[in-house]
Amino acid sequence: MYDVVVFGSCMIDFISYVNRMPKFGETIHSESFEVGYGGKGSNQAIASARLGCKTAMIGKIGNDGYGKNYKRHFEEEGINTEYLETAGEYSGIALIVVNSADGDNQIVINGNANKFLSVEDCVKARSVFDQSKILICQLETPIEATIEAMKSFQGLSILNAAPAVSNLPEIAFRLPSIFCVNELEAEEFTNVKFIEISDVKKIIQSLIHEKGCKTVIVTLGKNGAAFNDNDEIYHVPIQKEVQVVDSTGAGDAFIGALAFFFSKFPDASLVQKVAASIVIATSSVQNKGTQSSYINFPAIDPTKEQFKCNINN
Ligand code: RIB
Ligand code: NA
Repeated sequence: MYDVVVFGSCMIDFISYVNRMPKFGETIHSESFEVGYGGKGSNQAIASARLGCKTAMIGKIGNDGYGKNYKRHFEEEGINTEYLETAGEYSGIALIVVNSADGDNQIVINGNANKFLSVEDCVKARSVFDQSKILICQLETPIEATIEAMKSFQGLSILNAAPAVSNLPEIAFRLPSIFCVNELEAEEFTNVKFIEISDVKKIIQSLIHEKGCKTVIVTLGKNGAAFNDNDEIYHVPIQKEVQVVDSTGAGDAFIGALAFFFSKFPDASLVQKVAASIVIATSSVQNKGTQSSYINFPAIDPTKEQFKCNINN
């Protein structure tokens, strides 16, 4: 049995830390450079595994040095890689620029091997899907395969609809148990502009009533997250402000944590699960990198007093 199966992307992150973003047509020096394991799918798998989930990763890596090391990397984290396969020449590469002044980032992804993840791969990995409680998908791999994975999955499915695309098929909104995006992605999927926190209510309503989503979670960076529980919409703020060093992959830490709380604390309320996932995502922004900033949390219980927070609705 697996707690979590991730069907999705693996990238290698090339991260440049700069003291300001370059202008169009401009070349600037970085302050420092790092290479790390990334990709939304891979990040989410690592986040859930480090919290204590038995996790399987289904994805594609390239026929290059990075691909070879990738499998070992997952295995060292105790993640099942039976269906992590090699395809194409290059592994997925993310070019990331992080502004050291505020920890904000800009990312260009080169899908490469990830583009080969197919419907056939879903069929092949049937036994892993059947043995898993929670499925996590993203939009960095081909959408037909993601839809097939969500269609055939029996348990709770989470679609992190990132990066946002303008032509996401209608069924991709309706299939997942939870549709999770950040505020910028949410704007892309609706006609509602996000200007202030109160707009998130309209965004969630539009995703439910116009797109057919079941449960929507919108992550809001330093403003926490908002979600609906049936017809009620709640906003969970961050409990304490922290110094943001690098926000890259914080959304993935949130998704991995959410899956962990769903699998290990089924009786916690959605508010408690979201609040505890925010705590874990917040811890990741205080260190550089994506997976390199995910820590192991032994026995964290979202029903404990520390996760009691003021929610607004
Ligand atoms: O969400 C963060 C991730 O997005 C990075 O690790 C990068 O690989 C891109 O996929
Ligand atoms: Na980080």
